[in-house]
Amino acid sequence: MAILKIARMGHPVLLGRAAEVADPAASEMRRLVGDMAETLADAGGIGLAAPQVHVPLRLFLWRDGPALRVLFNPVIAPLGPETEAAWEGCLSIPGLRGRVDRPARVAWSGLDENGEAVSGEAEGLPARVLQHENDHLDGVLYLSRMKDLSMLGFTEELARLVEDRT
Ligand code: NI
Repeated sequence: MAILKIARMGHPVLLGRAAEVADPAASEMRRLVGDMAETLADAGGIGLAAPQVHVPLRLFLWRDGPALRVLFNPVIAPLGPETEAAWEGCLSIPGLRGRVDRPARVAWSGLDENGEAVSGEAEGLPARVLQHENDHLDGVLYLSRMKDLSMLGFTEELARLVEDRT
């Protein structure tokens, strides 16, 4: 396994629409997922999408409680009209956090590392991580989801104010 280089905001790989994965169980996908898990552990994040490591394919890792899961070709849909605002960071935008409104609950589906269909519902932090990572597959960064850019700041400065950082 290897620690991969993380693309930062401004790199074109973060702005495109990623392609569907034909076979999640292929050996090169296993290797990629292993490398992404190692990269995420090294960077200390809670989610990582393949475009962030310069691979424009539709998969991401996300932390679901204690488990680190992988989802290929994901579909994420809001459940109900309720939204929630919380602080987000992104490994591709180091040092910054912003407050982002998102649907509070989502249904998710996709394929696991064996190519089997998986689905579920999420709320709170996992729902936010799923939406944030899924956005990466469509070339969307959290900054473009923000309605109020006064709620963007450096993590070190915000630490003084923020009680519910995510
Ligand atoms: Ni991100």
